Amino acid sequence: MKALRLDGIHQPLVLQQVPTPTPGPNQVLIQLKAAALNHRDVWIQRGQYAGLRFPCILGSDGAGVISELGEGVDEALLHQAVLINPGQHWGENPRAQSKTFTILGLPEQGTFAEYIAVPVSQVCPLPAHLSFEQAAVLPLGGATAYRAIFTRAKLQAGERVLITGIGGGVALLGMQMAIASGAEVWVTSSSPAKLARAQQLGARGGVNYKEEKWVDDLLNQAGGAFDVIVDSAAGAGFNTLLDVAAPGGRLVFYGATQGNIPEVVARKIFWKQLSVLGSTMGTEQDFADMVRLVEEKQLVPIIDEVFPLAEGENAMRRMDNGEQFGKLVLRIDV
Ligand SMILES: NC(=O)c1ccc[n+]([C@@H]2O[C@H](COP(=O)([O-])OP(=O)(O)OC[C@H]3O[C@@H](n4cnc5c(N)ncnc54)[C@H](OP(=O)(O)O)[C@@H]3O)[C@@H](O)[C@H]2O)c1
Repeated sequence: MKALRLDGIHQPLVLQQVPTPTPGPNQVLIQLKAAALNHRDVWIQRGQYAGLRFPCILGSDGAGVISELGEGVDEALLHQAVLINPGQHWGENPRAQSKTFTILGLPEQGTFAEYIAVPVSQVCPLPAHLSFEQAAVLPLGGATAYRAIFTRAKLQAGERVLITGIGGGVALLGMQMAIASGAEVWVTSSSPAKLARAQQLGARGGVNYKEEKWVDDLLNQAGGAFDVIVDSAAGAGFNTLLDVAAPGGRLVFYGATQGNIPEVVARKIFWKQLSVLGSTMGTEQDFADMVRLVEEKQLVPIIDEVFPLAEGENAMRRMDNGEQFGKLVLRIDV
């Protein structure tokens, strides 16, 4: 089969001929139709991820058709269109993943390939209202957004939410889910064009986090502070988010694109009775609940751009430069 291979840190993804995997017992072979990028892929290419191993085939998100069954798999599944849950071996504790938890695309082969073999327990039917390309953007980002917003922050309808960096894949999926669940959502972005697009999609308002007075502007615009704040930037700006949290608010973060938080002003947290929550990916239940929400609300994820698999490196550069609004997709029909 053909696959995009990464041979080392800072190397470009190159289309190569590699052996097609064989499905083992209780596994299915999937002929992938579409894959999607996550920032994780960029971190790995830059060498900024734990457990690096080269060569590797990146990609955590994928959708396709079951083309071969391993021993013990129900024959009715052959030719079924499916979505892959990239999180494996979460373990018994729904509150946190086990030490053996892995994500497709390192160490195991990822979805930037024509075929992938995965345990049958990791697939679910493709949502009927979505194309392969639309569905392929859901798994990692959708599960992460769902767990952060609903399982961890326990968002309720009618609450006021702030989602930072709305151009991001997880952020935008989270915005769609929160709005569909009856929340009032405001956003931040480095780009006025992205702020405008978010408002077209139902955000109440938004401000540019690069501007000096963004906090005052945001509080004026929103008419007050936020019950739930969702962030993946962390870094020095994290303290500012404590200022826009309402008393009793929940601040959930799932990434640290801007690095560690240099100094936390403890009083801001305890005096306002805030909950600061960390979140990573999701359990099988989070994944299933996310897919159910997408189906129930007929959500259609926002795709920034679709690239042919062979041009995956261009998609990686677009993500690395932060140019995208929503998810970057690879079409697999090589
Ligand atoms: N823990 C987990 O399970 C998990 C899962 C998924 C992602 N993550 C992490 O979460 C982060 C986002 O992932 P992604 O796949 O959604 O990436 P992405 O699509 O590349 O989005 C990154 C976005 O971050 C925003 N951003 C950058 N600097 C910011 C700042 N100072 N303040 C606010 N927003 C800022 C930008 O938004 P604008 O373009 O609007 O400015 C950018 O588009 C990455 O660090 C990733 O590793 C973690």
